[in-house]
Amino acid sequence: MKKNIILIGFMGVGKGTTARAYAQKYNCFNIDTDDLIESKENQKIKEIFEEKGEKYFRDCEQSCADWIELSVDNSFVSCGGGFYTVSNLTKLGTVVLLDASYEWIFNRLSTAENSKAKLKKRPLFSEPKKAKKLYKERERAYKKIANIVIDVENKSMKSIIKEIHKKVKA
Ligand code: S3P
Repeated sequence: MKKNIILIGFMGVGKGTTARAYAQKYNCFNIDTDDLIESKENQKIKEIFEEKGEKYFRDCEQSCADWIELSVDNSFVSCGGGFYTVSNLTKLGTVVLLDASYEWIFNRLSTAENSKAKLKKRPLFSEPKKAKKLYKERERAYKKIANIVIDVENKSMKSIIKEIHKKVKA
């Protein structure tokens, strides 16, 4: 079994921030599936969606998952919100879900300092009503596939990364 931590969860729940904090505190490498896809395609996610469509992006996620399965271990992997659908997710490492209500996530994104940029780079968050629908559709599937669920609402980053570390090592 691989020793990666595979961090999943809905857009805007704080996967990237959590991954960076975890990697710094526990001295491990952090990679992000959206960043990997952007560098391989030499294009921003938003542009990939606009020019090549969502199906193409999902195929990129699958090849990214295949590469991780083949080549990555002992790392912290933060994943795009739809990455949980790749066929080999559970082979990549321990799957950890960052969980929060849609309202909390929406509030986190819309009150962030760079809120406009955060919303703009996420094509599937361009319409809050549609984003909420997507959240509802995915809610159960996230919990079903996760080995560990971390409720992040109103918790400090310090306690979130501690909790992940403790539960993954248990
Ligand atoms: C997506 C989430 C995004 C990005 C893409 C699709 C999704 O990542 O992969 O826009 O389907 O939920 P974040 O979860 O980091 O925003």
